[in-house]
Amino acid sequence: MTRVALLVSRIRVEEKLLLRALEDAGAEVQLVRDGDLVFGPDAARFPIQADVLVERSVSTSRGLYALRLAEQAGLPTINRYATAAVCADKILTTAALQEADVPQPRARVAFDRASALTAMEELGYPVVLKPTVGSWGRLLARINDRDAAEAVLEHRQVLGGYQHHIYYIQELVPKPDRDIRAFVVGDATIAAIYRSSAHWITNTARGGRASNCPITPELDAICRQAAQAVGGGVLAIDLFEDPHRGLLVNEINHTMEFRNSIDTTGVNIPAAVAEYVVAKIDD
Ligand SMILES: Nc1ncnc2c1ncn2[C@@H]1O[C@H](COP(=O)(O)OP(=O)(O)O)[C@@H](O)[C@H]1O
Ligand SMILES: [Mg+2]
Repeated sequence: MTRVALLVSRIRVEEKLLLRALEDAGAEVQLVRDGDLVFGPDAARFPIQADVLVERSVSTSRGLYALRLAEQAGLPTINRYATAAVCADKILTTAALQEADVPQPRARVAFDRASALTAMEELGYPVVLKPTVGSWGRLLARINDRDAAEAVLEHRQVLGGYQHHIYYIQELVPKPDRDIRAFVVGDATIAAIYRSSAHWITNTARGGRASNCPITPELDAICRQAAQAVGGGVLAIDLFEDPHRGLLVNEINHTMEFRNSIDTTGVNIPAAVAEYVVAKIDD
């Protein structure tokens, strides 16, 4: 029987669903709280005994360190550390997508206020300034003109921590009042939703409404290409529909939430993930 360790910070709806799905897939599941563990750098002191570790920490840093230490201890993980590390960082994601020729919004990176302002002027307003690490649409700034740019950059510089002094800037893509969230498990795009909102930020955590999005061959192809660009696994891809360029990949999430997408799509996402986890070890 496959022994699966499910690493969590706290148990959300997703973790409950995954736990049940993994058991239904025939796995023996052990819930492990990231806050309870003490890691040693050697395999003998690795605090989890299992055939595979499924990382579902709410904290990005805890999840990343746990994955790296598990890898060192010889424990297979989902997702892999290298994949998670790229997805957790919007700059690394942009680089990986570029390397694999996956279409994405125009983006710039700058390290101080003056060069960030130059980058914004060069891209042309409106632009979007984002923290390199983060989710749920937090601390995203849509900047419509130079006055706003100067104000936001000064606030970041004076009030922000060191990670806020790395400036990741994208063009504002003129998407319809929605974006697409697609779920890739292994080699398959298994489901997708539209997230619609009157606000330009469409995350469901920010009030975006979920509805089913048909998986066209075009959507399937770009999603699988994007997943491959970061090393593959269990991933959620955010895409924009640009009126001229077609689909653009905005970001890739490596510990996705999916509670709003099961009934909406009619696809049993946790079951698909569980099957993938169990099949990976049985290989
Ligand atoms: N460049 C952009 N153009 C248009 N809309 C954007 C852009 N960047 C982000 N958004 C909107 O904000 C949401 C959150 O942005 P995202 O980059 O996915 O950050 P997070 O990691 O917080 O989810 C997106 O789903 C989209 O609705
Ligand atoms: Mg997102």
